[in-house]
Amino acid sequence: MKIKVYPTPSKKLREALENEGFRFPCGGKGVCGRCKIVAPMLAPTELDYRFFTAKDIAEGLRLACDKTIDNPIEIDSFMQQIPAPRKLSEAMITAILGDRVSEISIVEDGIVETLVVSSPEADTVKLRSLVGKQSIELFEKYGVPKATVMLVAGTAARMRAFCGRSFDTEDGFLQMGDTLEASKFDMPAEEVYLPPFPNATTGSLDLLELDDLPDNSLLLLAEHGYQFFYKGESVIATAQLTEDADCANTAFAATVRYFCETYQPTAIYEVGTLPKEIADYLNKAECSWEHKESAATVRAARAVEDNRYKTRLNKWSRKIVLLHLADEERWQELFSLSQQTE
Ligand code: FES
Repeated sequence: MKIKVYPTPSKKLREALENEGFRFPCGGKGVCGRCKIVAPMLAPTELDYRFFTAKDIAEGLRLACDKTIDNPIEIDSFMQQIPAPRKLSEAMITAILGDRVSEISIVEDGIVETLVVSSPEADTVKLRSLVGKQSIELFEKYGVPKATVMLVAGTAARMRAFCGRSFDTEDGFLQMGDTLEASKFDMPAEEVYLPPFPNATTGSLDLLELDDLPDNSLLLLAEHGYQFFYKGESVIATAQLTEDADCANTAFAATVRYFCETYQPTAIYEVGTLPKEIADYLNKAECSWEHKESAATVRAARAVEDNRYKTRLNKWSRKIVLLHLADEERWQELFSLSQQTE
């Protein structure tokens, strides 16, 4: 949406855009990366480099929350409008617990509003209190006493911590989605629905990102470390790399080559923020790659309202196979080759 913005006395662009009815999902804390605008006339800041590629920045993409303006400017805004105040009757909550940020949404016939906050460490008390506190903030705003159902999804580590000792499966993972009494988690809802979190490294958040991806494609989730998913018709192969290892870039290159060679995906999709050297490597890979915005919150809203969608998530979960790359002979060969070409 094209819009002309006029400076306020504080000169803060955030204030000027709020006056125009735009909302800042993380309150302008520089956490969510959602206050996107096209404004090539504004000098890029450190925050822009954290969320955008050099190409995006050259095309004029900026985040609005840390900018100031002295004169009226014309921008293109991708931001959400502040929702009109209304009272909800059958509200539900979705909580997406990522490693870096968490998104708590109030849902009634689709998402009404989403709050984005920094994720706490993977600790049961901290995660539960974050979800509870943000939900209550939304309930107060929309005149709701509590949610009928709350969906909680997250990375494997966050989900294990959120569930804590109140939830035990035989091998510690929830292969199929389950709905439990909210009191088990001290949540302000009647029930809590947990989408499947299939294994030690694949969380329900990953499963939500995978959905709707075309068959025969490779999904690369880059938040803390890299999670690779090849999605085929009958199998979803997944492998995880940590970004802390000394040879993270070499391992990354070997893994992209391993997946491309073994599964021959027709496209690579990436969700998250890639460091420049990794993006450069992907630019040289044989198949094309594309950055995608995270769709986990939108899909969670669909899952909490639609039982058939829950069945679909269970179906994906059953197809997941966890690869241990270090045990794969071909991956080791590719790793050595990547080391030699460094
Ligand atoms: S409002 Fe969240 S980064 Fe700007």
